[in-house]
Amino acid sequence: MLFCITIALVSSFLLALGLVSGQNQHFFQHHQSAFEPLSSWINDQSQYAQSRILANIAPFADDPSAMAGAVCASPSRAHPDYYYSWTRDSALVMGEILNWLEEDNSTNSQQLNIALASYIGFTRHLQSLDTRYGLGEAKFNMDGTAFTKSWCNAQTDGPAIRALVLIRLAEHWGKESLFESLIHIDLDYVSRVWWQNTHCDIWEESRGLHFYTAMAQHRALRAGAELAQRLGDWEASRKYSTVAEKIETLLLPRFKNHGSHILTTIEWSGGLSSKVSNLDTQVLLASLHYTSGGQGMYSVGSSEMVSTVLAILRRFEFMYDINRVAYTEISGISVPIGVAAGRYPEDVYNGVGSSLGNPWSLVTSALAEYHYRLALAYADAGYLIVSPELIALLKWTAPYIQGNTEQFDLLQHKVVSDSDDHEFRGLLSYLLATGDLYMARVARHTGRDHTMSEQWNMYTGFGRGAVHLTWSYAAHTAAARARSKLIAIIN
Ligand code: NOJ
Ligand code: NOJ
Repeated sequence: MLFCITIALVSSFLLALGLVSGQNQHFFQHHQSAFEPLSSWINDQSQYAQSRILANIAPFADDPSAMAGAVCASPSRAHPDYYYSWTRDSALVMGEILNWLEEDNSTNSQQLNIALASYIGFTRHLQSLDTRYGLGEAKFNMDGTAFTKSWCNAQTDGPAIRALVLIRLAEHWGKESLFESLIHIDLDYVSRVWWQNTHCDIWEESRGLHFYTAMAQHRALRAGAELAQRLGDWEASRKYSTVAEKIETLLLPRFKNHGSHILTTIEWSGGLSSKVSNLDTQVLLASLHYTSGGQGMYSVGSSEMVSTVLAILRRFEFMYDINRVAYTEISGISVPIGVAAGRYPEDVYNGVGSSLGNPWSLVTSALAEYHYRLALAYADAGYLIVSPELIALLKWTAPYIQGNTEQFDLLQHKVVSDSDDHEFRGLLSYLLATGDLYMARVARHTGRDHTMSEQWNMYTGFGRGAVHLTWSYAAHTAAARARSKLIAIIN
């Protein structure tokens, strides 16, 4: 019922603009019939994802040596061996658990709180370990000992993401002592290393200064400075704000690549040298993870980010065989699907070894989340400026939902505000339908039993690489939450 309204709005909006003629309006009826099965798939998948994520957090019945609070990236112990606790994956997943707690009262809050508390214990343990790369160590053994074989280290996003989730936890629980005991340790580390160009990126392959890492560090330092100020620790507060300011004014602007996509790595100093495009979906992930709202540097609505997402879509559209398929069946209903995207175009990591990189589940979920969050940012602001970049993205998507694109140009440079209810809600609905393309893509390649892996084989679409990848599930629930919020607003 709710969706009927949405669809009616999309259709009437597009009809009003002349984007669809009476005869190809059938698509929207078609999409309308697709809404229910997709929504119910998302609900089932989200529930499964939550239980899977919790199942990947120690203690484990089948491995008594795993330390409570350690999060395995995946239970897979061979081909590939992902049975480690990565600082990045763990912190991202804990952040998502906190989101469930804050936004959804119906979940099992006791279990979630226990997971968060054990994560704190595990963090305390890790921070006291004496390791070669200190807090920048990318991953640890599940029993809490250091991983000592060679690896792309240090990775300095991890302590920043962890500090961010701990700051949120300190606020959520009113447990400010976390600042003194744990948070400042991570932030002091970040303050020391942020400018060094020898560290590895989140894909653990190239050395330099990385967009994702800088965005995580910037956000963590800002949040840390605020918390320190509230606690009356002026010295820490000043220190973190000063560094955050430097990252914001001296480092982040350097990733801007005027007229084209945002760069992922600058001052490259080693590791993979084949990423010539410097186009990478970790830029999109950074925007989703470390910005909020539509305004502000590199936020989802910034013209740089809109152009970067379009560049990603254009690049991946023809890269994988599976992207030739434009529809999938969900519960017997045909549903349109969007592009499956991988980490970056030159990727050769196939999930086990090196050949050709495949599309990734978490990245494709991020594309869905992006379109929902873009709409949410506009809804929040109460208006949207129809920039040329936005028009380009909307027009690019239109064939996937069988729209006729020319009339978008009529909106060029227009400011559409929520007082133009019809047009405004129409645009939000259009973005919802667009996000759904990527959700449905994820649905197509997720196992019937809800299993999510890291990647999908680019020819067959079947799961590939680490099975039950914790992060794939977290990316799905994040997208699903954004979608629910958007639907509530549109209706
Ligand atoms: C494992 C890393 O985690 C992955 O990101 C990388 O692409 C492969 N190793 C290949 O080096
Ligand atoms: C490989 C990915 O490149 C990296 O970002 C991730 O931390 C590990 N796999 C574990 O999931």
